Amino acid sequence: MLESTQELSARLRRQAAALATRDIASLFAAEPERLQHFGKRAAGLTLDLSKQALDETALTLLVELATAGGLAAAIEAMFQGHIINHTEQRAVLHTALRAGPQGTAQVDGQRVAGDVEQVLTRMAELVAAVHDGRWTGHDGARITDVVNIGIGGSHLGPQLACDALRYQHTGHVRVHFLANVDGGEFERVVAPLDPASTLFLVTSKSFTTVETRLNAKSARAWLAARFPDPAAIARHFVAVSAAPARAVEFGIAADNVYPLWDWVGGRYSLWSAVGLPIAFAVGMAGFRDFLAGARALDEHFRHAPFEDNLPVLLALLAFWNSHCLDAESEAVVPYDDRLRYLPDYLQQLEMESNGKRVDREGHALAGHSAPITWGGLGTNAQHAFFQLLHQGTRRVPVDFILSLTHPAARREHHDMLVANCIAQAEGLMRGRLIESTDPLARHRDIPGNRASTLITMTALTPATLGALIALYEHKTYVLSVLMNINAFDQWGVELGKVLAGSILEEIAQGAVSSAHDPSTRAVLEAYLKAQEDSV
Ligand code: F6P
Repeated sequence: MLESTQELSARLRRQAAALATRDIASLFAAEPERLQHFGKRAAGLTLDLSKQALDETALTLLVELATAGGLAAAIEAMFQGHIINHTEQRAVLHTALRAGPQGTAQVDGQRVAGDVEQVLTRMAELVAAVHDGRWTGHDGARITDVVNIGIGGSHLGPQLACDALRYQHTGHVRVHFLANVDGGEFERVVAPLDPASTLFLVTSKSFTTVETRLNAKSARAWLAARFPDPAAIARHFVAVSAAPARAVEFGIAADNVYPLWDWVGGRYSLWSAVGLPIAFAVGMAGFRDFLAGARALDEHFRHAPFEDNLPVLLALLAFWNSHCLDAESEAVVPYDDRLRYLPDYLQQLEMESNGKRVDREGHALAGHSAPITWGGLGTNAQHAFFQLLHQGTRRVPVDFILSLTHPAARREHHDMLVANCIAQAEGLMRGRLIESTDPLARHRDIPGNRASTLITMTALTPATLGALIALYEHKTYVLSVLMNINAFDQWGVELGKVLAGSILEEIAQGAVSSAHDPSTRAVLEAYLKAQEDSV
């Protein structure tokens, strides 16, 4: 770390200590321009940070820290396709997927916009053919159901977007998601469908992910039970992968394989052919609007000064809360049923990206890495974990997310939903103390001074959803730059995969290795016995 950043960090900690004695609500009186300074707009989104325990001095220091830490160069390095994922020697160019035909990003000296457009064109042809009935199943039946088989980044983003854009669905097909290796999920998702009218999208960047391969294998067997002719596979299976040869080897027709590139991280891939479920749901025009919304946020991120830059501000705030005010977690609470999968999606985005233990040079981090991301839907969450937010001893900053309008004509519901969201943000900040000397009254005291951010949009559309997701993607990257972390690898998930593989081998052999600890041995033996007893 540069000396100037160390000095700035020390000043930030002093500022945090000074602010600890202040009430957030009192900062509005002390800073008459507070709402203007902490409320910013871009790409159809409004970000209000004014209810955070942050003052103008702290924000100025945070901007200086980002500047001294080389954030401007880091942002450009990403957009220009430099190898910023240095542990895997890869560029990180999800922004090129939504830059449009004029995009200038290059990999190995070659512009990538042409390849990206080519795939978008192929996607459009596939979606149109299925929608208008030119692409049929093996016996000529129209495709009515599309099942995405994929997990992690090959699932969470498309699932979030398909559900969030439910009022924009064209109605041509129903889209389903099969992610977990749990056979119960297979039964729930696939069993009610008709093989004759079902199209499977096997989505896997690596095409080695065991959950996806087993689900795809079971889907193939389910199809074969109805159509034993191997030619049926070409009418019912499409794949998306950065390893097309593996998809073909699995049995998927080469013409049905849609490519992905190693310069797109799995959890950043929904803008590519991984987004086919979204395109099937909302049509290709809707998918292009989704890309355009993200592009608008990209432009803003690349060019706006840090103090006006939504993703930079969100990341600076996350750094402030976690590294200066010691918040261990962040809650995200959308007041919109359409965003019910947002917390799940953000958990992978933020924690798989920034849940690391060493810095870019491989040295142990001096402080913490990513805060824990969690959350749930308002108002349900008010009747679950909000008690802790109001009165618990841990402080959890909250991101409230709200669409000011709702397409369903249920004004009474929307009024109440919005009133609750606004009330919670104000209540967390203001609290309420009971005037009484009765010690039992202390149980009802709500101290207030709890921080929250409000993100609003006039309407949740493909474009504003694209911008919202891009906002969090860039927040994640900026936070990684501030912590000097590589946000684009995920070595931590490897160990579990390896161990599960060898345990599966033991199950297949019916023999438990003595190398395990007693607890592991006991549960494995219990499992094998339960299998024996159940036959
Ligand atoms: O195990 C983690 C992970 O590698 C994620 O990063 C990724 O999104 C997911 O698995 C699925 O990977 P794939 O798309 O290669 O099947």
